[in-house]
Amino acid sequence: MQPKKASESESRLTWIVAPQDLNRHGTLFGGQLLALADRVAAMAALRHSRLDCVTVSIDKVDFLAPVRHGYILDMTARVHFTARTSMEIYVSAFAEEPNTGNRELVCEAFFSFVAVDADGRPIPVPQVELETEQDRRLNAEAHKRYEARKAGKSATRTARKS
Ligand SMILES: CC(C)(COP(=O)(O)OP(=O)(O)OC[C@H]1O[C@@H](n2cnc3c(N)ncnc32)[C@H](O)[C@@H]1OP(=O)(O)O)[C@@H](O)C(=O)NCCC(=O)NCCS
Repeated sequence: MQPKKASESESRLTWIVAPQDLNRHGTLFGGQLLALADRVAAMAALRHSRLDCVTVSIDKVDFLAPVRHGYILDMTARVHFTARTSMEIYVSAFAEEPNTGNRELVCEAFFSFVAVDADGRPIPVPQVELETEQDRRLNAEAHKRYEARKAGKSATRTARKS
């Protein structure tokens, strides 16, 4: 399978924050932001693999600032790590103030997706070709997480026995 450039997976999703997206503080629900992040990450996984993909884990999510009614959310996702059947994807979300155009980073998250066949079994994905300094930095971090998880040394909390 031919490797693919990280930039080929890059995907964007924009969303204007409407009343139904708000919590009781009048700001965007974290769950709504996560659902959008999952969606844009899925686009990146699909563009990278051109295969059916499922979310297998969300490694880390940081909500950095609240997003207000009427703001424009601008989200980007890009594959920076691949193993055999899995891919890690970095999602960043900026909130844009509609009148000034001022932008602020409001969320960062790392999603893992697995490519699956028609029976839901994992299948190989193309390797990612890193292009930027950020790709290389995120890849090195993802590699450590991957190795730690495989070795059963993940620092992530889980109630399950492996
Ligand atoms: C994703 C799924 C197919 C993996 O099946 P599995 O039997 O655990 O498969 P494996 O153990 O062979 O792992 C397959 C790949 O997933 C990776 N993986 C498994 N658990 C993981 C986790 N918690 N985090 C990151 N990657 C994980 C493995 O490292 C492996 O990747 P690799 O081939 O690149 O090394 C299966 O768990 C599944 O169908 N989950 C539900 C997916 C879903 O419905 N998502 C939507 C949620 S609403």
